[in-house]
Amino acid sequence: MKIPDPHIIVIFGASGDLTKRKLIPALHQLYINNHLPSEFAILGASRTILNDEEFRERITEFIPTTTGADNEFLNRIFYQTIDYNATADYTDLKIRLEELKHRFSIPSNYLFYLSTPPQLYQVIPQELASAGLNTQSDGFKRLIIEKPFGHNQSSAKELNINLLTNYEESQIYRIDHYLGKESVQNLMVTRFANGIFEPVWNRNFINRVEITSAESLGVEGRGGYYESSGAMCDMVQNHLLQMVGLVAMEPPVVIEADAIRHEVMKVFQSLRPIKPEELQSQVVRGQYTSSTIKGFPTAGYREEPGVNPSSHTETYVAMKFFIDNWRWAGVPFFIRTGKKLPTRVTEIVIEFKPTPHHLFDQNGMNQNLSNQLIIRIQPDEGLLLKFGMKEPGAGFKVNQVNMDFHYSDLAALPMSAAYERLLLDCLMGDATLYSRGDTVEAAWNFIQPILDAWTNDPSIPIYGYPAGTWGPHESDALIDGELTWRFPCKNLADDGLYCEL
Ligand code: BG6
Repeated sequence: MKIPDPHIIVIFGASGDLTKRKLIPALHQLYINNHLPSEFAILGASRTILNDEEFRERITEFIPTTTGADNEFLNRIFYQTIDYNATADYTDLKIRLEELKHRFSIPSNYLFYLSTPPQLYQVIPQELASAGLNTQSDGFKRLIIEKPFGHNQSSAKELNINLLTNYEESQIYRIDHYLGKESVQNLMVTRFANGIFEPVWNRNFINRVEITSAESLGVEGRGGYYESSGAMCDMVQNHLLQMVGLVAMEPPVVIEADAIRHEVMKVFQSLRPIKPEELQSQVVRGQYTSSTIKGFPTAGYREEPGVNPSSHTETYVAMKFFIDNWRWAGVPFFIRTGKKLPTRVTEIVIEFKPTPHHLFDQNGMNQNLSNQLIIRIQPDEGLLLKFGMKEPGAGFKVNQVNMDFHYSDLAALPMSAAYERLLLDCLMGDATLYSRGDTVEAAWNFIQPILDAWTNDPSIPIYGYPAGTWGPHESDALIDGELTWRFPCKNLADDGLYCEL
């Protein structure tokens, strides 16, 4: 098993939620599973005044157990208070890094994780560069930048230009934690390691593609952030479009960062722009309103702390669009995401065309149900194939049945959390599951006209939907004819039979 070279990880924004809930547990897991070298250290940095011990106390509860090994892990964690705008503090940071390097015999391999407010994504890398902490002559210097990468098309472009002044593209890791999910990566394996799927993965056999990322939670105290983001920037611009990229891309030449990102980029370049006059028939936005869920009153978005009581921020988006290339010409893609929906589920539905002739129609009823391949990203990661079978008995009554694979059946192989995988990849210098600068800009290019129209034309409706429902009814109209969205329930595989919410 290959492990990363000795290194120090510096986490900016260390007193924040992401560090406690995701980054430290992920690093701990890597440590427990012997994926970290024995020469490593973690230095948390943020404005909050704390010493090493106080910082360790804050994060201990997020480390599952406390054994001897965990104490060893904790003893490698340090803390440095920093004023992000004070150049002198980066000199202190450099001195601290020198100390840690000598203490643990670590070369100058540094990974800087920016888990700070996005306004600091230019400041910190610039200050690091001024302190000489960007040069790779004595060891690697890598930056992980959390989302949102820019708040619109031009700010993303500006951020890229700014970062590239002092860093090579290969030093910049733009994180999208969806790409770290095992089942998202499995998409490539499903498509390119199986002879049965790839030949039918195109406009000749596929009717439509549907991607849903539903959350039952609301904004959970992040109203302030969410007000400036909304579902389009929070989920669509990054997570959903990255999934579209992997579903729609051509086979890469090799499984390597640039080859894969190149194919994703081609998909983004082929997204047909949504024209202003198409906006209302192709994009639906919604916002959850107060309701009662399972007998408990639930606040609407506008009642959440930090949210403007007359806010027009969308907590739900559903879209229909096309990818204008050889493979996907004419195949509609439907994507939707929302907060306070009935359940938490992310899935990709590939719906195949029905048979050309309906042999088993009975009493005028179409018995040729469409085949669907459902890639469950979360929870209960797996694959579900729906197809028609003859119901036992007289005649030819066709019923839809499921062929279902659950990742959890591979009990011997634990699934690693997204941040674990992504941190390890960055430490190994593998950017395959990170977004390249130009693809992030291309994703912004696609959604920017929609955001502009929403800002400039107040007559474009934002539909209310009661918390705990599947979003505004208007999103059903995006799908033509009798077809509807798939409404997965908690018992995801047995959909249609009963629904436990
Ligand atoms: C984050 C968004 O990027 O993804 C959150 O900012 C969202 O609003 C989260 O809740 C969803 O991630 P997951 O892994 O829980 O689906």
